Amino acid sequence: MSAILDVLSKRWSPRAFAPRAVEADKLQTLFEAARWAPSCYNDQPWHFVVTQRGIDASHESLLACLMAANQAWASTAPVLVLNCVRKNFSHNGKPNRWAFYDLGLAVGNLLSEATHQGLFVHQMAGFDAELAHRALSLPADHEAVAVMALGYLGDPATLPAGVEEKSAAQRERKAVSEIAHQGQW
Ligand SMILES: Cc1cc2nc3c(=O)[nH]c(=O)nc-3n(C[C@H](O)[C@H](O)[C@H](O)COP(=O)(O)O)c2cc1C
Repeated sequence: MSAILDVLSKRWSPRAFAPRAVEADKLQTLFEAARWAPSCYNDQPWHFVVTQRGIDASHESLLACLMAANQAWASTAPVLVLNCVRKNFSHNGKPNRWAFYDLGLAVGNLLSEATHQGLFVHQMAGFDAELAHRALSLPADHEAVAVMALGYLGDPATLPAGVEEKSAAQRERKAVSEIAHQGQW
């Protein structure tokens, strides 16, 4: 791999999280990083609903929205976040087809900051978005897009039976030559 930023090369998505809570000031830095992302019309369509185990009753509700296979390991994470977007532009109310793109940029920032802070994040598409919408009281013109489990790295031995940790070394990617096309596709 060519040399890239440490926060990019060291990030990976674990399944085992430590029971240790995430400090409030560290959690805050993640959303500070997210809010500085660029967005179409600077609309900043992203919203994050943060639930912490033992603090927010809705943590269990959000956990219950996950597919069983995700629940099995995500239950080890002290923090679950529902990533949402406002679907229409705030300046004209028209559909914002870049809202998901913008949310992805904000989450990209958040992931890099999390790695810098010694935290790990595992994102999930495997959840019931309509159930989460109701459970966490999202406004009607907003959509639940993904859930993030986050916290400090845990011991894979603490994972429930049947859940395997993959290792950071197993990360695989397409070659640059497969995704970047010079001149024309
Ligand atoms: C939008 C999105 C949805 C994902 N959904 C799930 C999921 O439901 N369950 C899961 O175990 N991992 C999920 N992942 C994690 C990916 O499988 C993981 O990021 C990918 O295999 C690359 O591994 P790495 O993050 O460790 O580099 C998701 C990741 C993204 C970005």
